[in-house]
Amino acid sequence: MGSLTSSPALLDAWFAVARSVEVSHASAHPVRLLERELVLWRGPDGAVVATADRCPHREAPLSAGTVEGGCLTCSYHGWTFAAGGRCVRVPSNPDSVPPPPRAHLAVHHCTERYGLVWVCLGDPADDVPCIAQEGDPSFRRINTPVEPWRTSATRMVDNFLDISHFPYVHTGTFGRAQDTLVAKIDIVELDGGWTGYRYDVLAGNEAGALASGQDGDVVERSMTTGFRLPFHVRSTIRYATGLEHVLLLLSTPVDDVTSLFTFVVWRNDDFAVSAEEVIRFDLAIGAEDKRMLELVPGLLPLDQTTLVSVQADRCSVEWRRRLVALLGGVTDGTSQALV
Ligand code: FES
Ligand SMILES: [Fe+2]
Repeated sequence: MGSLTSSPALLDAWFAVARSVEVSHASAHPVRLLERELVLWRGPDGAVVATADRCPHREAPLSAGTVEGGCLTCSYHGWTFAAGGRCVRVPSNPDSVPPPPRAHLAVHHCTERYGLVWVCLGDPADDVPCIAQEGDPSFRRINTPVEPWRTSATRMVDNFLDISHFPYVHTGTFGRAQDTLVAKIDIVELDGGWTGYRYDVLAGNEAGALASGQDGDVVERSMTTGFRLPFHVRSTIRYATGLEHVLLLLSTPVDDVTSLFTFVVWRNDDFAVSAEEVIRFDLAIGAEDKRMLELVPGLLPLDQTTLVSVQADRCSVEWRRRLVALLGGVTDGTSQALV
């Protein structure tokens, strides 16, 4: 299989690369996306600038430079770059001589949404995924760290769309109470452009009472899980009490076998439980997935014959079928036969 992260179609997708709070007004922030080194900094208007982490003069990493007043100054010969990546100063030249045209940095599409910095290296084919609860005053948003996982983004999405691993991987959090049998999955178009399925589960509650807002050994969850291409997943949880807990699970490919993971939570609770307590449970669940996925080598095969899939994998199979089409691969337009 060729490199996934060199696929041209991924250039036109948005990826979350950092928390907004990680990109300060006082320093440059290096990130790696699709095998490219990038640097982020805040320009004079506070907007994040994203560009290659390479000075056009002698290729020094710009992330080693300094930021002041929205201008990034390279640490090697002091060239200074301002809004939109414009080179505004070459100290070795008289100020009366404008910088050469090719000294300006080519900047990437960059936006901030949901407390995250999103970058698109090409021309955006779509918008950043829509979360209806953002801006709804009855919901609060909780962000979590952006952390590297030693696994492919494809394996992460496959995992996030899958509920049959709950009773095995998530025994330390909520999975022990779940029936191993998975009810028939019907793929539907959910709200907000998400494609996925609805299901009900019994979740172990011993470690999760703060997250569920209920006592008792088990709680009933009414859930949806869906995807947006290429690698965004949304899970919604509704409890009988009316409490809703929405998770945006984001997988950002650094290279074929390294990814960034972060998730964002929206909840319509009464804020009585601290954000730290709310996400402690979800972070523990994520750590269980990470531990499992880091044991599985390489990329997820995207063709429909290498892996054996069953009914419980229907959503992942549908996501892979659409991903292959997006990546320009051959697809016959039918789902893999499920055994
Ligand atoms: S390498 Fe950046 S100013 Fe020379
Ligand atoms: Fe999981």
